[in-house]
Formats: sequence, C-alpha cells, structure tokens
Amino acid sequence: MESYEFSQIEHQLAPVLEQHGCAVGQILQILVDVQEIYCFIPNEAITYIANRLGVPRVSVEGVAGFYSFLSLKPMGEYRILFSDNITDQMLGKNKLMHYFCKKQWLEPGKVSEDNLLSVDSTSCTGMCDQGPAALVNGWPLTNLDRQRLDLIADLIRDRKPVSSWPSNLFEVKDNIHRSDVLLGKLSAADTAIKAILDQSVATTLSEIEKSKLRGRGGAGYSTAKKWSGCCASQGLARYVVCNADEGEPGTFKDRVLLNSYADLVFDGMTICAKLIGATQGFLYLRGEYRYLLEKLEDVLTKRRTAGLLGKNILGEPGFDFEIEIHLGAGAYICGEESALIESLEGKSGRPRNRPPFPVTHGYHDQPTVVDNVETFVCVTKIAEHGGDWFANMGTEQSSGSKILSVSGDCARPGIYEYPFGISLQEILDDCGAEDAYAVQVSGPSGTLVSCKEFQRRICFEDLPTAGAFIIFNRDRDMLQVARNSAHFFAHESCGFCTPCRVGTQFQKKIIDKLTNGHGTALDLEELKNIGRIMKSMSHCGLGHTAANQVLDVLEKFPDAYKYKLKKHDFEPSFDLDKALEKARKITGRDDKWAHLP
Ligand SMILES: Cc1cc2nc3c(=O)[nH]c(=O)nc-3n(C[C@H](O)[C@H](O)[C@H](O)COP(=O)(O)O)c2cc1C
Ligand code: SF4
Repeated sequence: MESYEFSQIEHQLAPVLEQHGCAVGQILQILVDVQEIYCFIPNEAITYIANRLGVPRVSVEGVAGFYSFLSLKPMGEYRILFSDNITDQMLGKNKLMHYFCKKQWLEPGKVSEDNLLSVDSTSCTGMCDQGPAALVNGWPLTNLDRQRLDLIADLIRDRKPVSSWPSNLFEVKDNIHRSDVLLGKLSAADTAIKAILDQSVATTLSEIEKSKLRGRGGAGYSTAKKWSGCCASQGLARYVVCNADEGEPGTFKDRVLLNSYADLVFDGMTICAKLIGATQGFLYLRGEYRYLLEKLEDVLTKRRTAGLLGKNILGEPGFDFEIEIHLGAGAYICGEESALIESLEGKSGRPRNRPPFPVTHGYHDQPTVVDNVETFVCVTKIAEHGGDWFANMGTEQSSGSKILSVSGDCARPGIYEYPFGISLQEILDDCGAEDAYAVQVSGPSGTLVSCKEFQRRICFEDLPTAGAFIIFNRDRDMLQVARNSAHFFAHESCGFCTPCRVGTQFQKKIIDKLTNGHGTALDLEELKNIGRIMKSMSHCGLGHTAANQVLDVLEKFPDAYKYKLKKHDFEPSFDLDKALEKARKITGRDDKWAHLP
C-alpha cells in the first residue's frame, strides 16, 4: 500500500480541516472530502485528523470503517458501484456487471492491477425508475446497457476525467407521471413564509393540527404533536433536521422533491424553525444524491439573497434561521432518526436508546425535530392553503396526498402523486402494469401484497408507505426477491445488537441455502423463528422489519420456497466433507476413508 509523507498529508488536508472549522462534529464530512482526494482514507490521514482534532485515533478510524462509501483500502481511480436493488437485478444488473468486469479482466470487489478501476455492488442508489444504475466516483449513471458500458470502458481506458464524460450518461430524469397538490402548480418561494408571518405561531400550529398531517417517512406520527412536543421541551437551542437519507430500496420521490421542489422543502423547514424557535437546520443528504449538492447549495444561496434565510427573515426582527447540508456516506441505518443525529454529530450512525426521543434529546442532546422531505413540503402547502383544505383530501386517518416511487414490471415507472385511499389496482392501471402478480409496498421493510389483494388501499388505515411501490409480474422468482432483501439487511445491519446482527446473517445464509437447492422444511421453520426474534428483540426499526419481506414471501408465495426444497428433513448448511478438501490435497489422500460418509 502506498504510504504518504506527513508534509504531503498536511499540505492537502490542512485546508480541508480549516474548511470544516476543525470541528469534531465534522469528522464524517472531513472523511468524505479525504476520500475524494485519495480515492480512499489513508492511514496517515486518520492519524493527522485525530491529532489535529485532538481525539483518539480510534474515533476517526471507527467512523471511517462504518460507512460503506468510505474505504480504508485503496480503490481504483475510477470506482464503479452497481446498484443492487431488486429492480436493477430485474433489469439485468448482474449480467451487465459481469460483462463489464470480463471486458476489464477484473473481478467484482477487486481493484485492477494498475489501480485504475474497481467495480463492486452497492445498495439501491434511488434510480429504480431509470435503472440499471450505478455510481462512478459518486456520480449517478442511469439506463445502463452494454453499449453504454462499452463507452464507459473506453473513457476509463483513455483516462478521461469523469467531469468530461458525455452528460447523457448522467442524466437523471424526474419522471413525474401524476401530480396532485404537492407536485402541481408551484407558488413563489416566499408565499408560504409570508402567510405564516401574517399570523401568530399558535395559529399556524393549530392549522397544522387541523390538517391532521402525519409524517411521510414511514411511521406516520402526527407532525403537530411532534412539533408541539419540541416547543414544550427545554434546552439551550432547538434544531430542525430534514431527513433526506431515502435509503429504503425502491424509494426515489425525495430525489425528485430535492431536484425540482427544493424551495418547498426549505420553506417547510423555515416554517418549522419559526414555530419551534430554532435558528439552525440541517438537511441530511444521502451520499448517493451527492450530485444534487451544488444545486441545493445554489438554492440556499438564492434564498439568502432573497431574505428567506439568515437574519431577520423577510424583515421579521429575530426570525433568524440557517440551513446546512450534511452528506451521508452510504449507510441505510442513518435514515433512522437517532442514527441520523449521531451521524450529523460526526459519529458512526448507531441508533440511540429511545426514549428519550429527539424532540427532547436530539442533536447535541437538544430538542430537535426530524422530519421527512415530503413532510416539509406538505407543511409548506398547509401554510399556504390552510389546515382544512389539506384535511379534506384523503381518508379519515390519512389526510392529504402521497407521492409514490413506482418501479419494476410496468410500462411507465416514475413518480405518481395520489390522494390517500387510492387502491393498488388503480395505480397499476395508471402505470401500465398489465401482468402484475405482487407489489412490494414501502420497500423490503414494508408489506408484500399478492394479486388477490390489489383492492387494498394506500393509507395509514390499510397499507402505510414511505413511498416505494415495486411491481413484480408472474415471471419473477419470488425467492430471488426475498434473497435480495435478506442480503440487503445483512449488509446494512449496523451490528450493534445481537438479534439483528446475527439474525440478518442467519436469514441470508438460509435463503442462500434454499436458492442453491439445499433447503429443507426445517429451514423454513428456522426462518420464521429468526424473524420472530428479530421483530421482538432488536434495538431499532431496521431489525424489527428486516424479516418482513422474507416472511411475506413465505406466507403469500409458499411455492417460491417449496419448489426448491429437498425431500429430507434436514441438511446442514456447513459441508464438512467439502471443507476437508484442502486437507486432502495437502496430504495427497483422496481415498474413500479420507471422506466423511
Ligand atoms: C432503518 C430505518 C431507516 C429509515 N430511513 C428513513 C429515511 O430514509 N427517510 C425518512 O424520512 N425516514 C426514515 N426512517 C424513519 C425516521 O426514523 C423518522 O421516523 C422520520 O424521519 C420521521 O419523519 P416524519 O415524521 O416526517 O415521517 C427510517 C427508519 C428506520 C428504522
Ligand atoms: S436492530 Fe440492527 S441496525 Fe438496529 S441497532 Fe440493532 S444491529 Fe443496529
């Protein structure tokens, strides 16, 4: 491994540390920049950062080791990560990745001998409507096929910088096919904030209460209750955090909101700041959406110029608010609000004990509101049109509309916004899914719905969702669907608690065993047991939901598992005789007695 002189490290990293104010809370952001300079995190850089920040080396190394986009080993100058969501797989990701690797004489997961290229898989990159997708040095590549990969291979061979590659390779479309109250007509950026400045804080809060708005990040907690709870909490400061981690496979609606509706998101955050009395907000942007960073920074700059951020917003004395963008680095668990806060503080994203909840003990232990991107957009619209207007849409317990990320087997994948209460069948008709057999609502942590249940509705009373809507037709092997989710959760478990750390690994091994044709009925029972343990004993929501899809396939599509089963009751997952092969080779013995019966 190449080693670096102290003077070289200091020369390159001193400005990075200065730019981040030499703050311990900025360790993650500093490491993201270090990775951009060296294509990995050199050992010497860890020592330098630790010394400069005055923290133990292990604190920096721990963070660097936690996030999957940060690498402690050298990577290729060009680093390609193929998105491994089930929708990418359905569009031929595995074959394409192997085609590309073969062309380059490279194995997935390895670095080429000249250190030019490394290729690997990564969890869903949020481009499911235009996959197969990948990231090259963090920039999204969409609609990949052999022709595009041939072109990419040539560009890499000619060592063309990624910034000079043809722009059509990186085109990310919004693909909005149906808009309603949120994605429809855009008002001027200051409309909602002006509206709340004309009334008291209590009135605005009561409008939000009247709207019956529930969080769009999945759990559906009442927004008014959360914000009132934060107002009532004592602290030195209060904070607003927008959760743009969007890591649930199959979800990409926040990508579109940030790309084309960023002012509505920032309006919502600013309104929240006014109501709870916060002066600082953060947008936690998933590393996969790094390509949106400059665009979002530009929107923030324009807002500052327009008096919509900074001191005395729109001339209101004491209404001060700033927004800072923090980049994630490839960790699904950082979407969980307390893990997100840990990550914002520069640490590894491990979920905290809850209670206490962020509304009382959030960022640096101060009262903090964490809300989904779409929730803030809803707030902006409510501020503009009133609570009753919003409550009149949708169903009794689910007011307003929901933005869905539709992908999989349909003619028109993309973004669809509907009032709550829409049936699955109506959505399938709209997006051209003629032969739908199953729909995964809200990603692998959500609910798998079979074609017998397509009259069910998208709403908190029936099928709550954070937005993912993945369609499978009759030709799809549902065991492969379960396998994809088992691998995803095994990879994304943060490892903090045993039920999830071990359970997700067992789950993955059993599904692999079944896929390879070695499964037995006992393995199916074991899957159910592991699922029960993870659901009831895990520390956080990831573990509670990590078995959902595997168990739904077992319950609703039992044949997917059964046709792979061996007849006998049990077969160990570990093949002891095979493991002795090496010993047989060393000793030169391969007779009958050197084998187990
Ligand atoms: C493993 C895990 C991942 C999550 N990922 C996200 C996410 O990417 N975006 C999000 O808004 N909420 C996510 N959540 C939910 C958040 O913890 C939190 O409930 C949400 O941000 C609250 O916002 P809301 O009230 O506006 O929905 C996740 C939860 C878990 C357990
Ligand atoms: S449930 Fe999983 S992700 Fe959550 S704390 Fe435990 S190991 Fe980490």
